[in-house]
Amino acid sequence: MTSGGDSPGMNAAIRSVVRTCAYHNIACAGIYRGYQGMIDGDFIDLDARSVRGIINKGGTFLKSARSQDFRTKEGREKAYNNLTKAGIDALVTIGGDGTFTGALIFNEEFNFPVMGIPGTIDNDIAGTSHTLGYDTALNTVVEVIDKIRDTAHSHNRLFFVEVMGRDVGHIALNVGVGAGAEEILIPEEDLGLDRLLDSLRKSKKSGKSSSIVVVAEGDKTGRNVFELKDYVDENLPEYEVRVSVLGHMQRGGSPSCFDRVLASRMGVKAVESLLDGKSNLMVGLVNDKIQLTPLEKAIKGQSKINKELIRVSEIMTT
Ligand code: F6P
Repeated sequence: MTSGGDSPGMNAAIRSVVRTCAYHNIACAGIYRGYQGMIDGDFIDLDARSVRGIINKGGTFLKSARSQDFRTKEGREKAYNNLTKAGIDALVTIGGDGTFTGALIFNEEFNFPVMGIPGTIDNDIAGTSHTLGYDTALNTVVEVIDKIRDTAHSHNRLFFVEVMGRDVGHIALNVGVGAGAEEILIPEEDLGLDRLLDSLRKSKKSGKSSSIVVVAEGDKTGRNVFELKDYVDENLPEYEVRVSVLGHMQRGGSPSCFDRVLASRMGVKAVESLLDGKSNLMVGLVNDKIQLTPLEKAIKGQSKINKELIRVSEIMTT
């Protein structure tokens, strides 16, 4: 089952779960539209052939949805009865912290075995260095910012580029360094607007004719990118400023090789952990090893911003 914001690599993870079940001669079913599909009994039997040709496809063929009904005991009971009727006795959920919270409650209420695979472009889940889709999103965004830099350069313009990430700055920080941005605004470090103006003045003085400022959507300056543009327009008239909000294109695209391999490794671990009688755990990548983290910890934990990379970004704007 896939739930929450979709991400590239989810199809590869579904494929791995199905094939690992087939490898162990276990029947497998897909649940459409996350928890809502579970309540609606929207299931499909899947075998090794059902998942051919999807490892390279973005999105999730099982679709995803947010479900208000699953927030009610009645909705969860309906879901449980549907699963039991269909002969399904364990659940692999692919998604983010909201998905895992639902899985944990479901386990507590029905003692139903659950395993989590972290799938979100935000990379905001503790217990893994990479969530599925994060690497693909980084590559997608870097490519787009390179394109924006072409036109920024041609017109001597400053661009504010807003990227996703909900309330963490992993995407912004990494693409900012990767695309050589002059400034990166992330929620974890509120640089303040004066620091931004100083940095832009310095860039101008050092002869930079165009600049890119990457802004995480959860940034804490208290101004959205359009208001940041107005602020710079007022305070630095020497700049011609434009804004690009990248939006949902960051969630699409064919998964990178890294995400395909990670998805394949995580799917095997999730199914084989259930076979070992384990439950309430998330599969994660820790020091390049596939490891298990209690769902509780994955949900409550914080994914720390990389301070060393922040320092690198500061040095790179010299
Ligand atoms: O969690 C993934 C994400 O893309 C966030 O980065 C973003 O803030 C959010 O989902 C957007 O949610 P929706 O797809 O519901 O607009």
